[in-house]
Amino acid sequence: MYPLFEVPLIGGPLLIALIATFHILPSHVATGAFWFTYYVENKSYKENRPELLEFLKKFSLSILIFCFVTGSLTGIGIWYAATAISPRAITGLIHNYVWGWATEWVFFIIEIAAIYAYFYTFGKISRKAHLRVGLIYAMAAWISMVIITGILGFMMTPGPWLKTGGFFGGFFNDTYWPQLFMRTSFMFAIAGSYAAIVAGSMKSETGEEIKKLAGKWGLAGMLAGALCLGWYVLKMPAEAKAVIGSLKFVKTMLYMGGFTAIVMVLYFVLLALGKGRFVTPAVGVAMMGVLFLAISGGETAREVSRRPYLIPGYMYSNQIIARDLPAKGIKSEVEKMNREGFLTSYAFLPESVKTVNESNYLLAGEAVTKLQCVACHTIPEGGRNSLAAAYKRVAKDADEIFDHLDTLGDYKYMPPFVGTDVERRAAAAYIATLTGGKGADPSWVATGN
Ligand code: HEC
Repeated sequence: MYPLFEVPLIGGPLLIALIATFHILPSHVATGAFWFTYYVENKSYKENRPELLEFLKKFSLSILIFCFVTGSLTGIGIWYAATAISPRAITGLIHNYVWGWATEWVFFIIEIAAIYAYFYTFGKISRKAHLRVGLIYAMAAWISMVIITGILGFMMTPGPWLKTGGFFGGFFNDTYWPQLFMRTSFMFAIAGSYAAIVAGSMKSETGEEIKKLAGKWGLAGMLAGALCLGWYVLKMPAEAKAVIGSLKFVKTMLYMGGFTAIVMVLYFVLLALGKGRFVTPAVGVAMMGVLFLAISGGETAREVSRRPYLIPGYMYSNQIIARDLPAKGIKSEVEKMNREGFLTSYAFLPESVKTVNESNYLLAGEAVTKLQCVACHTIPEGGRNSLAAAYKRVAKDADEIFDHLDTLGDYKYMPPFVGTDVERRAAAAYIATLTGGKGADPSWVATGN
């Protein structure tokens, strides 16, 4: 077990979600945009319209700058944040998918080399060769999506991996195909909305024509994406849907996502009908913001759907191993921790808090609580999903909190409390200091009497 990384106020999950949403935009633009580029460049050569190339130069340069800077920074940001917050899950991911990541990086390097080659060889190599460079970019970028989707999907629906521990069982999991096609479709919509921004900066008829094209791509992407979303929902496990349905804030996020997606569809319809004159770069960026809200609605639901797990059926959100995984020789930690103690499993904790006694129980209780709860809660009142606020509502006094801790596993979205009764009493005593309720008697904590 690793040391705890506590994110104040917003909490770990929201931090990762924020970075991830900022990553999805540039990364999907980067994957989708070059299919658009390829199409427009082909059209330009076929119809002998060099003015379209002007757009392509602007477009590819802005992708090179915008997507590659923000995409790389946020991509690294996700790794940093996720590794600090859930080191054990990331270790699991690396141990199972190191060759997946390695393959992905190869395609990423091809992608980077291709975009530089593409931009700097405009007009310098033959048309055919230039088109090919664009196509190499588009293919490499999409293949990296093909790989990442498998690895990410494994963390939502690991499927056969839970039995076999095998690479491909987890990779081609139950939600792999719908997720791949959904991301591919939305990638065209995101590329369309990005193309409209660049076209908005061109004060020419070419700009208007590109907007129309962008609208068509956007519309096709949104409609195909909606169909794939339906397919994805069909393939989602019943428990995942139940978790989503049981949480009000997730439903609110989904409604917001649905509403903003409809706004985007209307926007694309206007563009596709050639009524896009109102789209300046500022309007285009604002609409990208709307798209951002639609994405965060969907991503919140997707993230929450795996609660109370990080890897469903295997590792809880607080990184405790929930079940045996015979194929990998891994044993569940729950029973052992309930029997022999939870704190003793944490190598980095000072020896002085590993065993609860009458003088260290508040400190030990704080360690138990934080290690098991901050994966989803902040502690003091005022933070996101604050534990203090939750217990002020549910149970204020130490003895009531002790009883309530035993019921956590009954909630669809929370793992059960893990540890001995003494540890549970210490956690209750600590939580009572947050609620301002009746505290615990030290000898009750230590002995139960
Ligand atoms: C996997 C994520 C997760 C973990 C880990 C987790 N919780 Fe929660 N907890 C939630 C969510 C989500 C809610 C509901 C928030 C809402 O209703 O908006 C919640 C709500 C609660 C509530 C309010 C329940 C009610 O009936 O209103 C309490 C109390 C609580 N958690 C205690 C804990 C304690 C104590 C721990 C650690 C031992 C813990 N939780 C660990 C996700 C988690």
